[in-house]
Amino acid sequence: MSIYEVPARVREGSPNPMTSLDSYNDLAERVSADPDAYWVAETCKRVSWRTEPTQGVGSSFDDIAEHAITWFADGTLNATESCLDRHLETRGDKVAILWEGDDVSEGLSWTYKELHEQVCLFSNAMKARGIVKGDRVLIYMGMVPEAAVAMLACARIGAIHSVVFGGFSADSLRSRAVDCRATAVITQDFGMRGGKRIELKRVSDQALIGLDSVHTVFVYKRTEDNVDMQAGRDHWWHEAIADESPDCPAEIVDAEHPLFILYTSGSTGKPKGQVHTHGGYITWTSYTHQHVFDLREDDVYACVADVGWITGHSYIVYGPLANGATTLMFESIPTYPDAGRYWDMVERHKISIFYTAPTAIRALAAQGDHFVTRYDRSSLRVLGTVGEPINPDAWEWYHRVVGEGRCNIVDTWWQTETGGICISPIAPATPTKPGSATLPVPGIEPVLRDAEGQILNGEAEGLLCIRRPWPGMSRTIWGDHDRYVDTYFSMFPGAYFTGDGCRRDADGYHWITGRVDDVINVSGHRMGTAEFESALVHHNAVAEAGVVGFPHPIKGQGVYCYIVLAEGHDQSETLERDLQNMLRSHIGAHARVDLYQVVPGLPKTRSGKVMRRILRKVAEGQPDALGDISTLADPTVVEAIIAGARSLD
Ligand code: WT7
Repeated sequence: MSIYEVPARVREGSPNPMTSLDSYNDLAERVSADPDAYWVAETCKRVSWRTEPTQGVGSSFDDIAEHAITWFADGTLNATESCLDRHLETRGDKVAILWEGDDVSEGLSWTYKELHEQVCLFSNAMKARGIVKGDRVLIYMGMVPEAAVAMLACARIGAIHSVVFGGFSADSLRSRAVDCRATAVITQDFGMRGGKRIELKRVSDQALIGLDSVHTVFVYKRTEDNVDMQAGRDHWWHEAIADESPDCPAEIVDAEHPLFILYTSGSTGKPKGQVHTHGGYITWTSYTHQHVFDLREDDVYACVADVGWITGHSYIVYGPLANGATTLMFESIPTYPDAGRYWDMVERHKISIFYTAPTAIRALAAQGDHFVTRYDRSSLRVLGTVGEPINPDAWEWYHRVVGEGRCNIVDTWWQTETGGICISPIAPATPTKPGSATLPVPGIEPVLRDAEGQILNGEAEGLLCIRRPWPGMSRTIWGDHDRYVDTYFSMFPGAYFTGDGCRRDADGYHWITGRVDDVINVSGHRMGTAEFESALVHHNAVAEAGVVGFPHPIKGQGVYCYIVLAEGHDQSETLERDLQNMLRSHIGAHARVDLYQVVPGLPKTRSGKVMRRILRKVAEGQPDALGDISTLADPTVVEAIIAGARSLD
């Protein structure tokens, strides 16, 4: 097993309190000895509080059913003051957002002063339309700088944003608007991605039919093309800000006031609205962004995720801006106009920290090294990955070809629920092993348990839990605290259960093995198999559907779907296409099945429960490893499933 020491260039001149394993261990011990003292001091240093907090964590995992976790509960602030106002004097003319448009020729940059002004203008426009503290506002946009402005403007007036990824369908947008009872939507005419237009306004209109709670829709104009505007409800962004003041004092809120809701998939059909709050979230994202990536004042930092996912919230917008960084927003895709786009960008903007997902690394590695090597990447110092386990081959390619062995790779494990990075190398401190997320960020205490709940010590493989609260964690599920407790704290009372499996090696390094629940991770997009299944059974030819993941060479996991046809329906040439359309309209364009198999029935126990393990093993190409199937109601179903199993080639 190869271990990579931290390259000298990454360690040299680092301002990080952790520049060796020893200093990392010292700090981690100090935090765990007195987390309250440490985090209160940290937050007062890095966050602009109006009333500085004296309290650390309130409540504990033991009585989470009665009391949500709080951090810094006696403090007051507004997270945008840490992202904007805090920097005006010292970094007012520093570039805050560097925008790279879909077309290489399109781009702009905004300094902290300019970003502050844009946010204030739009905050005032929202206030003028009656949007007030506590209102929920959906943001359904592409990767334009105005998406970040929309988020920050909501936060500034104390409204709660909920960004919905621009690939989601009208149905998905609508169900989120209903769940949080949104009063306003911020969208744009069209999104631009890889030379294609995405009809964001039209889909918003469809989602909002008959939804009375939404009284206002703001539309940012990205193109010259026309869209329908509904009089009274819809307002062009540029018109709405035209007469507003460029100054808008931030609404000061309690530390635990919700900053945003972000919906994420779980094992059951309905997405869960994770609630993150001003004080803890801004502390955690700023802390982890600075330390993990080892941010320096003149860095150009690029995270090429989408603001529709938590990575975009924490590591394009909130973390980097709280740290006064120059953060890039990328509107396009890694293969447009060709597979060299990322590295072309690295050369043009002199990017020093670059953060992407394993699926993109694998896809680009498959295109050949020349797309990388023809660009100058000497500015790079830290390379990050997130979203799914990275296979050692892809890791090595990233390290050797992209980073020319000069950069440290930070494989960052975390989740929508954790708010920010939890297990990851600290760039200047942690030697790396390809495929391992390595060690916990100070303040995170991971534990592995077996299915019976026994804590596993030393070298072991088990279920990954975190045993103590940390500032960035989500506080609840919007409108359903019982579900939050049930999902994360019922399996192992007193600990947060992540839903991931994990192996810990002899050096204490963590190797995430993937989800152990019915969540699949396709190209770093987290999807619930139940969401697929409930969408597919809407088709009248489908009696039952069983969806599982299987290993996919580029996407990490692919989607495998077993279909039981309804009486009187035969398999037809058009069925797969119809089902695909069904998924597109119920979930979104990113919900695609890779392999369909029509089966006579799903394998069920005598009590009628689908034995998903069998579906998984067959899809994974391991029909010999089914285990005990003696409780099946009809074992012949399994023979048919094995006989008709499909694979990618
Ligand atoms: C799930 C969370 C974290 C932002 C993007 C995804 C998987 C995430 C890693 C990693 C192995 C990873 C886990 C986790 N995951 N990062 N570095 N190594 N697996 O956020 O959509 O909430 O998904 O992504 O399975 O539970 P998310």
